[in-house]
Amino acid sequence: MSFTADRLLLFGATGDLAQRMLLPSLFALDADGLLAPDLKIIGTARSEMTDGEYRNFARAALEKYLPADRRGRMAEFLNRLSYQTLDATTLEGYDDLAKKVGTPARGLAIFLSTAPSLFGPTIRGLQSAGLTGENVRMCLEKPLGTDLASSREINDAVAGAFPENRIFRIDHYLGKETVQNLLALRFANLMFEPLWNAAHIDHVQITVAETVGLEGRVAFYDDAGAIRDMVQNHMLQLLALVAMEPPAHFDATAVRDEKVKVLRALRPVIAGETVTGQYRAGAIGGQAVPGYDEELGKPSDTETFVAIKAHVDNWRWKGVPFYLRTGKRLPKRVTEIVIQFACVPHSIFAGRGATMQPNRLVIGIQPEENITLSLMAKVPGLDREGIRLRQVPLNIAMPDAFSGAVRRIAYERLLLDLVEGDQTLFVRRDEVEAQWEWIDAIRSLWATEGLTPKTYTAGSWGPSAAIALAERDGVTWHE
Ligand code: BG6
Repeated sequence: MSFTADRLLLFGATGDLAQRMLLPSLFALDADGLLAPDLKIIGTARSEMTDGEYRNFARAALEKYLPADRRGRMAEFLNRLSYQTLDATTLEGYDDLAKKVGTPARGLAIFLSTAPSLFGPTIRGLQSAGLTGENVRMCLEKPLGTDLASSREINDAVAGAFPENRIFRIDHYLGKETVQNLLALRFANLMFEPLWNAAHIDHVQITVAETVGLEGRVAFYDDAGAIRDMVQNHMLQLLALVAMEPPAHFDATAVRDEKVKVLRALRPVIAGETVTGQYRAGAIGGQAVPGYDEELGKPSDTETFVAIKAHVDNWRWKGVPFYLRTGKRLPKRVTEIVIQFACVPHSIFAGRGATMQPNRLVIGIQPEENITLSLMAKVPGLDREGIRLRQVPLNIAMPDAFSGAVRRIAYERLLLDLVEGDQTLFVRRDEVEAQWEWIDAIRSLWATEGLTPKTYTAGSWGPSAAIALAERDGVTWHE
């Protein structure tokens, strides 16, 4: 298994992800000398294109999506690219594809960035053309199904051709620097772990807020909704990293073994523990934006916002709620995890009039990467009218702490790990299926209850019921 691939085959090579993320990431890796000199990248998709046309297509994508300070000489990178037209649904073109791929000296990594309905036919095509041998790794981009049953079908189809240790399921949140830093924070420091449990933590909040709306992904998004687009994957992975036991090693098996235990310990959600919403016209950053139904062009029951009160039923987290919320067209783009510690057991200052607030750790994942711990401190003075205490932040801005270090986008890291065969930041089958099991139960609860999304104004923090979901427990969402 430990080979560095010398061929990378991209399915969906003309798609949005390829243009926005995959080609720019591969270029950036190449520019930094991180790709093997003999790595060849073969793109394939339905469009008719020659190698030269694909190189031009790739150049246009790089010019459009690479930040100006990361564009360099493109010729060498473009020379790595070639292209094969393929209708993935019929077996016919796969032999030609195999010819184009040639015989890898060390191994082949395949990246499927296509509609999941093509996964099965593609695997069959690859098998028929002998492209599933022991030196081939298979990488799958989300969505991996629309529910547990369809995800199992996909997983079964892939498992028919590849063993689990050669399957790489992407959740791009795992490639984000600050998400990995969560593990460093928890397990490379002594001070947090003894407090990281129900005895000392009151609750956890995980927010993934976006300002964007549909972004032209009309059909996909309207079928998925926020719970399947964001909670099933990214948010549950964040939750698992926050809640898991310390793995014995930072390796694929140990980390994923611990994450899956958390995912399996998620308590089925009951009525009243979720709120869904759909945005109406409003304004974000002073700009008027249309409502979801206007963007879509028809009325719809799809949720663009969801808030959930989740529980992890194990010893460590007994009685600690995890409040999750995500939505489109919220006031700002922010992904963060808030660890709200419990109050001190006894205030020695109570008799002197001081009020206390419990400590809070805020882990900012994006756009700002920072870690803030709020501590109580005494307000300077002679305290003639009683002691005054106030919360002060202990703030680490990661870009300042590591100035000079290159901040890489998630796909750079994940593509390099794929080519080199490190599965640690990829999602294992049992994790995906545990995620779906929990999500399916929520969706069937919504169906039984006839729950439809409440409206919220674009630019607000979702329906007021989401605020109430936390407030009835005495919790305020961090904003
Ligand atoms: C994707 C979702 O998985 O993640 C999108 O399909 C969402 O709807 C995106 O916008 C968010 O990713 P990021 O990295 O911008 O937070």
